[in-house]
Amino acid sequence: MIRRLTACTIVALACGDAEPPPLQTPVLDSAARAALADSAEIARGQAVYQVSCSECHTIQPPPLTAPPLAEISRRYRELFADREDALRYLIDYTSAPDLANARLDQRHLDEWGLMPSVILPENDLHAVARWVWELAARDSTL
Ligand code: HEC
Repeated sequence: MIRRLTACTIVALACGDAEPPPLQTPVLDSAARAALADSAEIARGQAVYQVSCSECHTIQPPPLTAPPLAEISRRYRELFADREDALRYLIDYTSAPDLANARLDQRHLDEWGLMPSVILPENDLHAVARWVWELAARDSTL
């Protein structure tokens, strides 16, 4: 009996001295982390757009001196089954526009002329391409 009491006392003391359990930090699975990184990239893409594209491209009509990007986004959703292919194309075209490679209807090229190349780091090109791709998905009125 004495021994048992002692054991209980030791347990009680041990419990009393125990560190509080560590706070649980939320654990994100890899899909959630990827989704967060993706939305951060889209937001960064919009910032790149403001600096490097908005002098010519509006998002929605009316246009300035180039087709609105939401229309381009919608067109690419029809043309490219795979998002990665669309992003690759967007990146290549933005950095080196090429008549032979243009995907817009000829009337756009007649109306606006060929886009000048925009020199940006690859990660900025990727971010703005990712943002352009998202435009059609976000605007259900298109
Ligand atoms: C100085 C004006 C100007 C700037 C700056 C500009 N664009 Fe353009 N862009 C145009 C014009 C004009 C066209 C239409 C002719 C063409 O397709 O080349 C065009 C067309 C495009 C197209 C359609 C290409 C096709 O034929 O499929 C995409 C995509 C595009 N721009 C993306 C961008 C992005 C992204 C940026 C910013 C990083 C940007 N543009 C900056 C003028 C501009």
